[in-house]
Amino acid sequence: MNISSLPRFPLAVLPTPLDKLPRLSHELGVRVVMKRDDLTGFAMGGNKARKLEFLVADALEKNCDVLVTGGGVQSNHIRTTAAAARKAGMDAVGVFFASPSGETNGNLLLDEILGAQLIYAQADKLETELVIQRVCDDLRAQGKKPYLIPVGGSTKRGVVSYILAVQELLAQLQAQKISLDAVVITTGSCGTHAGVLAGMKIYGVQIPVHGITVSRPRAECLERLPRLLDETAQFLEHEIAFSDDDLIVHDEYIGEAYAKITPAARAAIQRVARAEGIFLDPVYTGKAMAGLIDLVERGIFKKGSTILFWHTGGAPGIFGFPNDILG
Ligand SMILES: Cc1ncc(COP(=O)(O)O)c(C=O)c1O
Repeated sequence: MNISSLPRFPLAVLPTPLDKLPRLSHELGVRVVMKRDDLTGFAMGGNKARKLEFLVADALEKNCDVLVTGGGVQSNHIRTTAAAARKAGMDAVGVFFASPSGETNGNLLLDEILGAQLIYAQADKLETELVIQRVCDDLRAQGKKPYLIPVGGSTKRGVVSYILAVQELLAQLQAQKISLDAVVITTGSCGTHAGVLAGMKIYGVQIPVHGITVSRPRAECLERLPRLLDETAQFLEHEIAFSDDDLIVHDEYIGEAYAKITPAARAAIQRVARAEGIFLDPVYTGKAMAGLIDLVERGIFKKGSTILFWHTGGAPGIFGFPNDILG
């Protein structure tokens, strides 16, 4: 299947900028460039706007009238899904893994403004996926047509959106005459990472993609990534030839748990803001930047090399953790 013939519901403002970060680069001794998917624009930006273009289009083709998905309480994915549902004239249900915390701020506040139905599953990720299915069954029984989006929107369609993002990036690299030694990306439900990797393979580019996982252990990512790559290859009827060596996942930056800030993430958030005026978030990109900095300090990224940090957004989450960020 040709990607350009896939139905797509426009949401994101594309292309997102490719920025040079001169002051951070000077501090770290590597050249850092940033792909600004925090600036995808729709509903406060982030990577999910790209994925949802393909997911919402599929939902509309299937005549669905409500998007159902899940995530953490400060889920950027639920916020963006709820907004995309509204733009497409649909309702949205967000199922949280957690219990209610009594807080209403950050993404949660935006979910409420959007009028999404919010359900606290009070369960782990696996059970939450079951709750999402049950919610869909209940909606069907009420005569509604739900469209189930798995946690994180990591499906073959979500992956496709990041194959196209790589195409966009490669054109920018060529125009700006930048040659990359590595890409660093935040890995959660693995769809974004899988898409970037698939894009590199499909367009024949040899740039290692380092995923910094912020939730799932490395072993789980090493199961999910090939599964998503294979599903996408089948869907597109296009080979995505990858080897185990292409699957680079670092899980030492998660810290205590998903959505619990680490001292290194806090320092990275402050450092990037103070050097470049760019906001990272405490749950995802702050931890990924902490990973990038550590990989430089450990000499895994050599001095003088050029590293792309793929900023996947998440800034609204800052307001869900005000005390954690300043430490
Ligand atoms: C800001 C941000 N970055 C990265 C990710 C991870 O993307 P994925 O779930 O595709 O691995 C997410 C997922 O929720 C996110 O919200």
